[in-house]
Amino acid sequence: MIEEGYKKRYKAGNTPWDLGRPDFNLIQTVTARAIKPCQVLDIGCGTGSNSIWLAQNNFAVIGIDTSEIAIQKAVEEASNNNVTCTFLVNDILLNKIEGSPFGLAFDRGCFHSYNSDEERRIFAEKVAAHLEKDGLWLSLVGNADERRDVPGPPQRSARDIVNSVEPYFEILSLVSSHFESNHPSPPRAWVCLMRKRPIA
Ligand SMILES: C[S@@+](CC[C@H](N)C(=O)[O-])C[C@H]1O[C@@H](n2cnc3c(N)ncnc32)[C@H](O)[C@@H]1O
Repeated sequence: MIEEGYKKRYKAGNTPWDLGRPDFNLIQTVTARAIKPCQVLDIGCGTGSNSIWLAQNNFAVIGIDTSEIAIQKAVEEASNNNVTCTFLVNDILLNKIEGSPFGLAFDRGCFHSYNSDEERRIFAEKVAAHLEKDGLWLSLVGNADERRDVPGPPQRSARDIVNSVEPYFEILSLVSSHFESNHPSPPRAWVCLMRKRPIA
């Protein structure tokens, strides 16, 4: 299972996505779109760098992750940074989430982890279920337009994203970018901003 794979990776310290700083795509989107502080859900928050940035920018943050190790670290990091976030071991696919409904959902590299259209459709349905009317979802997703022969994040096409999210979300923007990274040629990413549909 995807979640078990991540748990093992945190245990082994094999977490190349974990940079200890927020992703510039989050900062740029929130700033450029003037997304107002609200109750936000960071799905698959890992060790909390993006949650912490959101809290420092006046969002009320709940970060969830299926990895206990990641959540323990996130709690420590928030305390080191003197910010208030709520971090919970929880699974977006299975459980209700405290604090729901949210004005904004964010995920960096969680949605893209799921391999089939059906799994990603269910993921999108769950995100929509936790959002308030007109709630937004910002998702950072590995971009399949990059050909590479080294390991890296899962890669999805624009069609993969659209197929899964369209029933529940109106896509406001889908922009080709790259992930925040320490690598000289950072992995390509999609930055997808969506609004919950009235029927979702
Ligand atoms: C690639 S990591 C990214 C972590 C963090 N967002 C970051 O940018 O550092 C994906 C994260 O999603 C979490 N995850 C995977 N499936 C999940 C689920 N169903 N519910 C909650 N978290 C999940 C994993 O444990 C992992 O921490």
